[in-house]
Amino acid sequence: MSKIPVIIDTDPGIDDFLAIMLAKSSAKLDIRAITAVCGNQTLEKTSKNALDIANLLDINVAVAKGAQTPLDRELYTAGDVHGENGIGNIYLEASSKEFDNRYAWDLIYDEVKKENGNLEIIAIGPLTNIAIAVLKYPELVNMVKRLTIMGGSASSGNRTEHAEFNIWADPLAADIVFKSGFNMVMVGLDVTRKTLLSEENIEEIKAVKSEHIDIIGSLLDEMFKRYKKLGNPGVVIHDALAVAYVIDESCLELKNCQVSIESRDEIRIGKTIVDLEGKDKNVAVAFEVDFNLFKDLFEKMPLYYN
Ligand code: BDR
Ligand code: CA
Repeated sequence: MSKIPVIIDTDPGIDDFLAIMLAKSSAKLDIRAITAVCGNQTLEKTSKNALDIANLLDINVAVAKGAQTPLDRELYTAGDVHGENGIGNIYLEASSKEFDNRYAWDLIYDEVKKENGNLEIIAIGPLTNIAIAVLKYPELVNMVKRLTIMGGSASSGNRTEHAEFNIWADPLAADIVFKSGFNMVMVGLDVTRKTLLSEENIEEIKAVKSEHIDIIGSLLDEMFKRYKKLGNPGVVIHDALAVAYVIDESCLELKNCQVSIESRDEIRIGKTIVDLEGKDKNVAVAFEVDFNLFKDLFEKMPLYYN
């Protein structure tokens, strides 16, 4: 079976790091490029993390920098959740490789063009790079097989009462991408929240023998520490669920919906307005998750790195 070629657009990010590890561990995916965007931390930090993660995991593909600010909004990072360096203040060996000299959106376009409609994009940060790619190359939407994003919520948010972080961080970019015509899947809080890994699950994962188990354990511990402070009994690896879906579609149940983005109202800014009855259905939204399937995929991930 041929592998699915994917580009990962990301803002590492503790859960982004684990999502990239999951993607690399899968026999079904072939990572063709990694593009970095500002979000959980500044672009300087997220792009360095992306390059160092690729180096650590032996992902020998182009890593490119993208947007260093949202399209029409100040940059608000998430250092409270992801730490000062973006990956829980875990320090990786610095990669000796250089960044690709193209911008993220140009690299995305070049890679998509090579694949004749087979390439998929998994976007697990704010949608700024993808929006710029669409603005610069409108034909891109019909050249990408599928865009799977982690972001949004049909119910409440996590960054505000109304908005999920990735959409809230750049609502204008999200608005452009949601209106663009991509074959698009939204993996939002409605499903990621149902994948809480308990302290016991974390301990089980840490007991697996793996080359990178110390790093995996530290990432999970760092997340758990921060989640616990906020009153959560476990951790949610949001971004890993978007990757898990592309690996195995039976992870999620989707419904076609009309989704629009609140990009102006100050209080509701970044809200994904999900309408199941709307006649312009533009996005397949995930509402149910097979938690055991996801947990199994995630728990087996460290075994790959033996
Ligand atoms: C999303 O926000 C970020 O902090 C995470 O990396 C994830 O992509 C969850 O709302
Ligand atoms: Ca992310």
